[in-house]
Amino acid sequence: MLVFSEKLKKCVRENGSRVVLALDLSPSVGEKDFKRRLLVKSRRILSEVEEHIVGVKINFQLLLPLGLFDDLRLLIEDVSHYGLPLIMDCKLNDVEHTNEWASRYFFEAGFDALIVNPFVGWKGGLDAVFSVAKDYEKGVILLVYMSHPGAEEGYGQRVVRDEGAVRFQYEVFAEKAKSWGADGVVVGATQPKIIERVFEIVGRKIPIFSPGIGSQGGVIGEAFRAGATYAIVGRSIYQSEDPKRSAKEIKEKINEAMGQF
Ligand code: XMP
Repeated sequence: MLVFSEKLKKCVRENGSRVVLALDLSPSVGEKDFKRRLLVKSRRILSEVEEHIVGVKINFQLLLPLGLFDDLRLLIEDVSHYGLPLIMDCKLNDVEHTNEWASRYFFEAGFDALIVNPFVGWKGGLDAVFSVAKDYEKGVILLVYMSHPGAEEGYGQRVVRDEGAVRFQYEVFAEKAKSWGADGVVVGATQPKIIERVFEIVGRKIPIFSPGIGSQGGVIGEAFRAGATYAIVGRSIYQSEDPKRSAKEIKEKINEAMGQF
């Protein structure tokens, strides 16, 4: 079994892509047959774009209605059939025993990596997630700076470290990604300067996953020039009239941008 980072690199080689699909479809609750339609549409979009992506990210829009060990299994099986790594965007953020069980369930269900929130800290918090991930040979990705404007209030605040030095919170989180042995960090594409700073800290060994391209205003060239490794893209693909064409175009734009530096 390939561990998360190896599986990702294999898909980059095979599909020539750096696009992680955020499969966040959401028909309204109460619409006739909404769960079945959600599943069918998600599977269809995945089958159309699978050759142009390197991974799939799922969050609560699918997890809650479809259920981890119920209908979501069919989609998880599809992702596995295409050989793509599957990321759970649960932004895990609780105490040890809860984190431990949540991680176990996600890994048992077939997820390859989880996104976690470093605000909760290590001891009695995220140590449990890293320990379970190690047992299952799975990945942990740390939120370092989010893509929405309010991210500034937490991830962008200035903090005084023990030595008295003033740092940005995201710089401290990027350092924790290194010391905790994270398999990736998330930095919003809307903040290329912050991607650049995080890249200076984590280097090439820890990939930077960058959401916020397209619908949230992030620009491919700026994010990748700053050091992003993968783009997480949702609406620009699944809301497109032609998801396959859009995924291919985004993949090519990223490759073009990466070829320029
Ligand atoms: P769109 O539709 O904007 O979707 O392309 C982006 C996807 O990424 C998620 N998202 C984030 N996830 N940190 C994360 O871990 C972030 O800063 C962040 N911003 C957006 C969002 O949930 C969606 O799935």
